[in-house]
Amino acid sequence: MPRHKSARTLIRGGTIHSATHSFRGDIAIADGRIAAVGAALPVDAGARVIEAAGMEVIPGCIDVHVHLALPFCGTVSCDDFESGSRAAACGGVTTLIDFAIPGAGQSLREAHDAWRAKSEGISGVDYTWHMALTDRRHIAEVPAMIDMGLPTFKEFMIYESEGWNSDDAMMFATLEQVREHGGMLMVHAESSRVLDLLIERNHTPAQMRKYGARLHPMTRPNFVEAEAIERAIHWASATGGTLYIVHMSTAQGADLVRQARQRGVNVWAETCTQYLTLDDRVFESEDGHLFACCPQVKKQADVDRLWQALERGGDEVCVVSTDTCSFTREQKGMWWVEHEPGRRGRPGESDAGSKREGYGDWTKIPMGLPGLETMVPLVYTLGVRPGRISMNRLVELCSTNPARIMGMGDRKGHIAPGFDADLVIIDPTRTKDVDWRQMHSRCDWSPYQGMKLGGFARTTLLRGEIIVDGYKYVGKRGQGQFIERHGPGSLKPA
Ligand code: URP
Ligand code: ZN
Ligand code: ZN
Repeated sequence: MPRHKSARTLIRGGTIHSATHSFRGDIAIADGRIAAVGAALPVDAGARVIEAAGMEVIPGCIDVHVHLALPFCGTVSCDDFESGSRAAACGGVTTLIDFAIPGAGQSLREAHDAWRAKSEGISGVDYTWHMALTDRRHIAEVPAMIDMGLPTFKEFMIYESEGWNSDDAMMFATLEQVREHGGMLMVHAESSRVLDLLIERNHTPAQMRKYGARLHPMTRPNFVEAEAIERAIHWASATGGTLYIVHMSTAQGADLVRQARQRGVNVWAETCTQYLTLDDRVFESEDGHLFACCPQVKKQADVDRLWQALERGGDEVCVVSTDTCSFTREQKGMWWVEHEPGRRGRPGESDAGSKREGYGDWTKIPMGLPGLETMVPLVYTLGVRPGRISMNRLVELCSTNPARIMGMGDRKGHIAPGFDADLVIIDPTRTKDVDWRQMHSRCDWSPYQGMKLGGFARTTLLRGEIIVDGYKYVGKRGQGQFIERHGPGSLKPA
């Protein structure tokens, strides 16, 4: 094998995991790709050897849902492609997928160019983006985007205030278009009208005084998500288009996706680490407002049901992602101050007397959480360590399925000759206390602060280059490449 002869790096003696099996062996790397996988591979003269005895070796993970430097909720998410990709690398993520969202009046092509300017020469890991459709005119641009290697599209069933929301007709027409041209529609499923009604009812000084930031989860009961998922599934069934539910947060959602798949509807779903880890008790704490995200974290029963979906295997939930959209304490507090200076008060206490407009307004808290660096550690610590899922299932959920379903399964998400040498080495004996000060996000807090997590990357390789070494980021700005994708919507090998 010529590639094997010119191998420049050898990862030796690790336990190598794919989505289906695990074995002890070596990985030879040449020209950024995996050249050979096997037992006791020869070491070429001059080759760099990375010892991995006692270590877990997995394909680089893919976070298919991030928002870096996103203008949102009156501010811009604080992690950009530089800090976001560093956090990714240290958490074992070697490819990330953002969402290019057109500004008012912009075409998809213009949004694409804006995202290119934010990422090219900046990202330290490989990257691409889904195209968000925010106007009916965008539907006509779908075929051109697919030709450019961008075959996944996103619509929001909420966010009228951002000018992003789609109605049923737009979802229907987009599903027809992606069916026709070989793409996939991803949907943020929450029932906009009911959600807005619940917010309006609760947006009163009395409610705010009484409940503070706890109003956030109270205005997003499970049926808000369930109704929207059901409706989106209905249009997928009617059109035959492939649908993917992003950031699914409820037990009902998991049931609906399972039932629809049993009926033969082309629907897939991801959940995110916050919905596998946190429940709405986070809103009871003094920092509760920091946890505002959309959809909101739900109850412990939902956390349990989503884990059940991961434990069962199959494709009820086929991907774990993060929906990273980081905001600092200052950003989260722009419209929300828990204690007026010189006066002790409960979170959410009256805005009366304040000169700041919107003071204490829970509806305006920028929504989103940091999560890129903790995605794999959370799945590893809460899933693999207690034996809920295997290392193979972790690989399937965080690497192989994301690669295949997003249309890059021909080069990412698997350890075999010819695949990109995106590899992560994890020391199973190592545990760290999560502390935002030691992580790479620009966010000055973490939803997982103080948790004891294993599964951080001891070593990360991006196309054969070491970008994390001994838990330290050693990559270069701009080392990441844009990845063209083709043929999404299937979990079959490319
Ligand atoms: O709270 C979140 N998820 N912010 C990002 C936007 C979205 O809905 O994905
Ligand atoms: Zn969303
Ligand atoms: Zn999102």
